[in-house]
Amino acid sequence: MVEAVELRTDRVVLRAWRESDREPYAALNADPIVMEHFPAPLTRQESDDHVDRILAAFDEHGWGLWAAEVPGVAEFIGFIGLAIPRFEASFMPCVEVGWRLARSAWGRGYAPEGGAEALRFAFGELGLEEVLSFTAVQNVKSRRVMEKLGMTHDPADDFDHPSLPLDSPINRHVLYRARRP
Ligand SMILES: CC(C)(COP(=O)(O)OP(=O)(O)OC[C@H]1O[C@@H](n2cnc3c(N)ncnc32)[C@H](O)[C@@H]1OP(=O)(O)O)[C@@H](O)C(=O)NCCC(=O)NCCS
Repeated sequence: MVEAVELRTDRVVLRAWRESDREPYAALNADPIVMEHFPAPLTRQESDDHVDRILAAFDEHGWGLWAAEVPGVAEFIGFIGLAIPRFEASFMPCVEVGWRLARSAWGRGYAPEGGAEALRFAFGELGLEEVLSFTAVQNVKSRRVMEKLGMTHDPADDFDHPSLPLDSPINRHVLYRARRP
């Protein structure tokens, strides 16, 4: 087991998960607006299963989808961080940067602030050459975060998500790339 890295920005702490994060994480995963660009909101069990997979990745690597805290404001707002996606695609294997926040924390720039720190860590400590991010075409809020992070989008990289049926409205995905500065 590798010790978990903790990262900090001016406003956001990216820290190891606590048992007490499971409940607010399940609440945001049950919110249909938060989950608008995913197949469905998650049940408590599905949410806990996701936390278990996140914890396993931290055990293996010491980094991952960190629990995001805004000290003095909220102990847990969601996750921001890095992951190794499992599905098959032309751009695999890769490391992705991603985020999912409770609605009460939206619109304050927390995702770009934490995401920038995750990218700094990926290119610095991890020495990666490239980090990717992807989302459903219509997820403009998340695409805007990618753009604020200076990531670039080439329409030639757009893809059909292999875990979703071809006729799903969220099947078509955009891919954004960040190169090592
Ligand atoms: C994507 C997400 C993390 C954005 O995080 P955030 O910290 O709110 O990001 P920002 O505050 O920088 O907002 C990003 C952009 O989204 C838009 N936006 C954010 N909050 C909004 C709101 N409440 N209403 C309307 N637009 C909003 C704005 O256009 C903003 O860009 P701008 O500041 O240039 O105007 C958040 O919306 C979220 O968790 N969404 C659900 C989960 C998800 O889709 N995750 C990504 C899957 S790949």
